[in-house]
Amino acid sequence: MRGEAEARVLELRALIDEANYNYYVLDAPTIPDAEYDRLLRELQVLEANHPELLTPNSPTQRVGASPLKDFQQVTHAVPMLSLNNAFSEAEVAAFDRRVREGLEKDEQDEVEYAVEPKFDGLAITLRYEDGAFVQGATRGDGYTGEDVTANLRTVRAIPMVLAGEGVPRVLEVRGEVLMLRRDFERLNQAARDKGEKTFANPRNAAAGSLRQLDSRITASRRLSFFAYGLGQVEGLPPEEALPATHSATMDWLAALRFPVAPQRRVVQGVAGLMAFFTELGASRETLPYDIDGAVYKVNRLADHERLGFVARAPRFAIAHKYPAQEELTTVEAIDVQVGRTGTLTPVARLKPVFVGGVTVTNATLHNEDEVRRKDVRVGDTVIIRRAGDVIPEVVSVVLERRLCPTPPSFDMAKLYPVCPVCGAPVIRLEGEAAARCTNGLACPAQRKEALIHFASRRAMDIDGLGDKLVEQLVDKGLVHTPADLYGLTHPQLADLERMADKSAANLVAAIAASRGRPLARFVFALGIRHVGEQTAKDLARHFGSLDALMAADEAALLAVPDVGPVVAASIAAFFAEAHNRTVIEALRQAGAWQDGEARPAVAAGPLAGKTLVLTGTLPTLSRDEAKALIEAAGGKAAGSVSKKTDYVIAGADAGSKLAKAQELQVTVLDEAGFMQLLKGELN
Ligand code: IVH
Repeated sequence: MRGEAEARVLELRALIDEANYNYYVLDAPTIPDAEYDRLLRELQVLEANHPELLTPNSPTQRVGASPLKDFQQVTHAVPMLSLNNAFSEAEVAAFDRRVREGLEKDEQDEVEYAVEPKFDGLAITLRYEDGAFVQGATRGDGYTGEDVTANLRTVRAIPMVLAGEGVPRVLEVRGEVLMLRRDFERLNQAARDKGEKTFANPRNAAAGSLRQLDSRITASRRLSFFAYGLGQVEGLPPEEALPATHSATMDWLAALRFPVAPQRRVVQGVAGLMAFFTELGASRETLPYDIDGAVYKVNRLADHERLGFVARAPRFAIAHKYPAQEELTTVEAIDVQVGRTGTLTPVARLKPVFVGGVTVTNATLHNEDEVRRKDVRVGDTVIIRRAGDVIPEVVSVVLERRLCPTPPSFDMAKLYPVCPVCGAPVIRLEGEAAARCTNGLACPAQRKEALIHFASRRAMDIDGLGDKLVEQLVDKGLVHTPADLYGLTHPQLADLERMADKSAANLVAAIAASRGRPLARFVFALGIRHVGEQTAKDLARHFGSLDALMAADEAALLAVPDVGPVVAASIAAFFAEAHNRTVIEALRQAGAWQDGEARPAVAAGPLAGKTLVLTGTLPTLSRDEAKALIEAAGGKAAGSVSKKTDYVIAGADAGSKLAKAQELQVTVLDEAGFMQLLKGELN
């Protein structure tokens, strides 16, 4: 029966659209994948049997259609303009001043702004007629763009049909198409596995995917979308009015089931704008997508008309940009740096470039395989990325700009048969990515790095003992081992370059103050390979004294939770080394640590005896804060999931640990669940 089939088709579309909305827009799936697949298949079968019921906006059409020859041009009914940029508080204040002048506001009268992230993707416009998606286009030059309707149909977060009251006859919604970082990583990984070209960043990947003539390719790429404004609006039903503010417009779009920025907010005046900028900046690294700034819009739409446009940008809005995280520069040389454990890390020496808020002259190339994979050569133009506090890295080579003929590619074994610092042989063990200097602490480079690590905040925390000082101390032969630090005198230090009397005194005091640190810190400070902060804590707690730890053989070490054969062997080898025992004895004489745990396990806390593993990014707690909470409640924060794990606390972008937890059926909690657990409300 046709009528029955039609009713079921409509019902199925509603169910599938609902599931898509919950999954792709709200990020809160409501039905299992298998059920979703069943509904979709049922709809496909019905549409195949009743071709007259098929519509371009059916959820079955999101998989892409046959390739186009080229894109049609689309003239935008309302131009898609761009925003002026501000790069400093002064420029933001100047923008606010111009707005207040334009609106003839008093000195004290603050302007209300709607604020949101500036998504780093591509601007598009979506045209709906009578509630149905009819056309989607790129921004192009702002007046004419390209018709990418077929491609946009594959973006699950974009509604194909608008439901609800008050939908105008013509509605254009504007926003940004982007690729989530995790989808970008997955895409690049797949390309690498197949030996294909990778994309430099999510924005390029989104652009490349949106401009595919074959929409089936776009469908396989998983693009996302966020709406941030309106274009043409016509034929509003009688009795209906458009919202009077930008923030209410966003709420309306959200009600129409468009994805809108979850961080959007309404603030007052420059102080409100700056507070939002700082707050958004702090969360930038943990967002699932790239943003390159914040956008500020005068909230009252009537004011937009009063303010108008200058050239091609509105006076009522501005983009406040974060310093760029990626820039182009050239590779002047490829050197290696010798690290604390003797690892030779290839480093690109760069033509200085301002990126991520600082001038960068070096970028890590991680290891030899990575240099080969990226095929970085001296003279190449490269993309450098510096995000947050992360060490700058070479993202990729701009091959189009490579000079010919090319210099040979990097070959560690040929270039560095011996350590460039001490001349000892370099080896690369089977199955390891790193090449290493074999000279241990006799190598000055390793010695320096070992000292920097020893003094670092999470180790012995010697304030004021930075890289430059360590360099001088080692080069002048004043310090060979960490134990020598405790013998340094005020006159010796005051003699160093750029060392004032006062700073020398402070440093002597800081070194003295580092005496008597808890055993766990001291063990971490020793810089034993594979012994990070957590393992050091575990060892200190398990053995209670350095003598007991040093006396432990591999079997005894394996009894420590989370210590496996590789770690146990590394610890045993470290303490077997005569040189290390001598240094430790000297440190003992200097009183560098005290035995026992400084912070004994809380025996009675709600997590007493429990082992927890943290993974992914929690919405409000940092990794350190969560760890501190676990320990304060008597629990232990372990590094990996095993059968002994009681809970896994998972945040955004959790990876293999979460999978392992599910495999071992360990209870997984989110941050809210974790808080309940801490309060003893879960059991
Ligand atoms: S509003 C009249 N809001 O930035 C201009 N744009 O330079 C209306 N963008 O082409 C643009 N996030 O691609 C606006 N929250 C946001 C945005 C945003 C990213 C992009 C957009 C536009 C460019 C303007």
